[in-house]
Amino acid sequence: MRKNQLFTFLFLAALAGITACNRQSKAPEVKPLTEEESARFLEQGQEIAQATFAVMSGRLQAAMQEGGVAHAAQYCNMAALPIADSLSGVYGAKIRRTSLKVRNLEDRPDDLEKSALEQYAKDWAAQMPLKPKVVLVDNQTVAFYAPIKVNAFCLSCHGEVGASLKEEDYATLKSLYPEDQAVGYKDGDWRGLWSVRFDRNLHLPK
Ligand code: HEC
Repeated sequence: MRKNQLFTFLFLAALAGITACNRQSKAPEVKPLTEEESARFLEQGQEIAQATFAVMSGRLQAAMQEGGVAHAAQYCNMAALPIADSLSGVYGAKIRRTSLKVRNLEDRPDDLEKSALEQYAKDWAAQMPLKPKVVLVDNQTVAFYAPIKVNAFCLSCHGEVGASLKEEDYATLKSLYPEDQAVGYKDGDWRGLWSVRFDRNLHLPK
């Protein structure tokens, strides 16, 4: 009898183990984005990226006039932007920028961003247009990517060292970011991407 009980116990324990495993290995079904969702996240991603860019450029330019590169360097830091926070609040979105050549190591891409960057790099090399896009991460999360390009204004901090980027300014940047790779760009070059993560299920304002 005792032996039987032990067997029953072991049998049940094994069964519980198997079902638990099954449950774990069954990935939740991912529902593809509907056309309506894709359009909505594309529009909102662009809105957020453009608004952030506008605020950032405004601050950078004012800071440059005030105190040159050394003073303005801190204004290209997104973390210091309250607008990024407030937009995140409204849209349930997180925004960041990344690149294959970063200045701040905290801006290095994650795996998904890296593949988006590599796709943009390919398109750029093939002289194809770089378009914003929406990617489903999982049932909970949608990613928006849009290319970032360099304009003449950016060159004083991301341009060619000794030419558009002055040696002394580069020295300042290097002292702040010793592993800086984000130089050598020309006007019109592709620089990186905006990355916006949305909570897919949040009810969004129109
Ligand atoms: C005054 C100097 C300055 C100017 C002008 C400037 N940047 Fe930056 N940029 C920086 C600094 C400093 C960082 C690192 C910020 C941080 O700590 O997050 C940075 C970071 C970035 C990043 C994030 C990825 C990385 O390399 O860390 C992108 C993208 C970027 N800049 C694009 C631009 C573009 C596009 C322009 C022009 C519209 C521009 N920057 C103008 C100084 C500048």
